[in-house]
Amino acid sequence: MGADLARVLYTEAQIRERLAELAGAIDRDYADKDPLLIGVLKGAVQVMADLTRAMHLTTETDWMAVSSYGSGTKSSGVVRILKDLDRDITGRHVLIVEDIVDSGLTLSWLVANLGSRGPASVEVCTLLRKPDAAKVRVDVRYVGFDIPNEFVVGYGLDYADRYRNLRDIGTLAEHVYS
Ligand code: PRP
Repeated sequence: MGADLARVLYTEAQIRERLAELAGAIDRDYADKDPLLIGVLKGAVQVMADLTRAMHLTTETDWMAVSSYGSGTKSSGVVRILKDLDRDITGRHVLIVEDIVDSGLTLSWLVANLGSRGPASVEVCTLLRKPDAAKVRVDVRYVGFDIPNEFVVGYGLDYADRYRNLRDIGTLAEHVYS
């Protein structure tokens, strides 16, 4: 599977180190806030697992699954909820956990949607962000790495639902597409 990568952007060790830094910052910022971490399926599974285990605060977690109407790899900003939260978030300090912010359209919709449910706060943590792909501005409090506008897989990120279980993050080799 690793042979399908053209270039490794971040190794498992680099990801672990950066997530530990983010976990430390979240521990400090939410020390007295009893945060609720909300992962966005499916890409955020790996980030959520490693981020929460690097934290010292006990946290609650919940999940949403959303689908963005769009053509192929491009999201449109029109989002449909496939799985909603299991709980009421009124008065809660919510932290959305994402693998990647690309155009920002999904996140922008999600922040507004969760914000309308009466939480005490809504912040975002993402492992990756592509500043050059941004179509809307979304405030992201915790960012692992800003990356170039390239298609990347691994560590939760997929190509046709594959490669999520790669431990590193990288770009796919040409032969995978052809
Ligand atoms: C990815 C990612 C974000 C979204 C970012 O999810 O997890 O939710 O795309 O794109 P945007 O910033 O352009 O809106 P995807 O729809 O690929 O689903 P997945 O997590 O199940 O792979």
